[in-house]
Amino acid sequence: MKNKNIKILGIETSCDETCASVVENGRKVLSNIIASSANIQAKFGGVVPEIASRKHIEYIGNVVDSALKEAKLIFEEIDAIAVTTNPGLIGALLVGVNYAKALSFAVGKPLIAVNHIEGHIAAAFLESEIEPPFVALVVSGGHTLLYDVRSYESYEIIGKTMDDAVGEAYDKVARLLGLGYPGGPLIDKLAKQGNPSINFPKPKACEDNFDFSYSGLKSSVINFVNSANMKNELINKEDIAASFQKSAIDVLVEKSNRLLEKNEKLIVVGGVACNSYLREQLENAYIPKPIYCTDNAAMIASRAYYSYFQNDFADLSLNASSKL
Ligand code: KG4
Ligand code: ZN
Repeated sequence: MKNKNIKILGIETSCDETCASVVENGRKVLSNIIASSANIQAKFGGVVPEIASRKHIEYIGNVVDSALKEAKLIFEEIDAIAVTTNPGLIGALLVGVNYAKALSFAVGKPLIAVNHIEGHIAAAFLESEIEPPFVALVVSGGHTLLYDVRSYESYEIIGKTMDDAVGEAYDKVARLLGLGYPGGPLIDKLAKQGNPSINFPKPKACEDNFDFSYSGLKSSVINFVNSANMKNELINKEDIAASFQKSAIDVLVEKSNRLLEKNEKLIVVGGVACNSYLREQLENAYIPKPIYCTDNAAMIASRAYYSYFQNDFADLSLNASSKL
């Protein structure tokens, strides 16, 4: 079977992006379609779960069809259908899971369940030759995790955030500054025009381990802005963005460097891995191109490729879960 080119259709609907992709042998991306409802969510300052679910229902048929069309394939030529089951917004996940189940039943192709975070890590395999073992830093809107990845099938958590995720802190600070949603790219851009002159504190509790904490940093930015507003002082948004970004990213860089010094191979994935300051600072880590860092289905299809060889298939009782 290994001589055959295995083509997996991936489906991802854990948040506000409806994604489908076909990946060959876990590495070669034949198509990667993403329909986002972020511009609609932006009006509400963040993701409204019900809107996300409704938009997935609206988009999913066309997104899957486009993924096959772009890959120049028909359903019969696909070897398996992979779908994100957890973690994520439950209503949003259920749209993808039910679509994948119906499709698997209708076209008679095996179904593979994929954990979203393991999917983010598999983004490192797309169009690359990277292989485990390595340590993976996953920095997204919902998670800040460090994984010890010893093989394609073994994922052990060695560090995690005690409170907020780093992307969540970016989104909340952006909202406070009235920048819009998603906040990460907007703060990243604004920070380039500012000076990191404000000393926002670094978390003390996780100095000596591989855990993270972002609620203290978020609160200091909120207090800084509120106190300036109360005193009718003008705030410099560019400097706040640059200072927040420096504090938020420097801790990630420090811990990453500690791992690199131990001769660990390090990969960085998840939406925050698009950050220009992080990419600049972590030259020695492998960071996939930005389109594979934010949510996509190519990473889901890649992760599923390794389950395919373990005969790790799901049946039609497959369900979604919001939990990790
Ligand atoms: O991985 P992702 O697309 O979705 C989740 O699984 O959460 O990550 C989205 C997060 C958002 O919080 C967004 O603000 C952040 O990634 N993000 C960034 C940048 N681009 C996206 N954060 C910092 N700098 C960026 N350039
Ligand atoms: Zn994600």
